[in-house]
Amino acid sequence: MRLHVADHPLVAHKLTVLRDVTTPSATFRLLVDELVTLLAYEATRDVRTREVEITTPVATTTGTKLAQPRPLVVPILRAGLGMLDGMTRLLPSAEVGFLGMQRDEETLEAITYANRLPEDLSGRQCFLLDPMLATGGTLVAAIDYLLQRGARDVTAVCLLAAPEGIKVVEDFVGDRADVQVVVAAVDERLNEKAYIVPGLGDAGDRLYGVV
Ligand code: URA
Repeated sequence: MRLHVADHPLVAHKLTVLRDVTTPSATFRLLVDELVTLLAYEATRDVRTREVEITTPVATTTGTKLAQPRPLVVPILRAGLGMLDGMTRLLPSAEVGFLGMQRDEETLEAITYANRLPEDLSGRQCFLLDPMLATGGTLVAAIDYLLQRGARDVTAVCLLAAPEGIKVVEDFVGDRADVQVVVAAVDERLNEKAYIVPGLGDAGDRLYGVV
């Protein structure tokens, strides 16, 4: 598994405002959107392309376009939905699938309650969106889902990660597939409730209000 931590002053600035408990939901949503677009730039560095011949007003030249099949973007509901627009802004031709996963607050296990994905993902580049890589349970379950459908090239875009979760994903992936995690920052640790410290709290609640 490859880990890429986006090291950029704009990322650090936006993340600091996100972490602040006084930042209201409306600002939080806007900042997540902007931050994801910056992370998407890093996450798509290895997106597959093909050469094309084009004619400019001045000459013919060889250019670059995204290859087929189209990349697949998969937000993990609920909080990953807040990252979708920021990602598809850079990848407008991507197909979008959905995975509904929830953490059981007692066992901390990931429960899948919805899925809308193509059956066959062989040859597809997949981008998972999940703001918080905490215990790693949800991300491992989501990666497993994609691998079972034939994907071998998966990039997870996260806002924050805990070292414990990164290790869990690393151990699960081994050399089964090419998996990359792109994250704005790696925090200190998990607390006893499996929240990332210092973190930003419950990403879903901060995006959408408590339901
Ligand atoms: N999920 C969140 O939304 N926040 C955390 O800190 C951990 C998991």
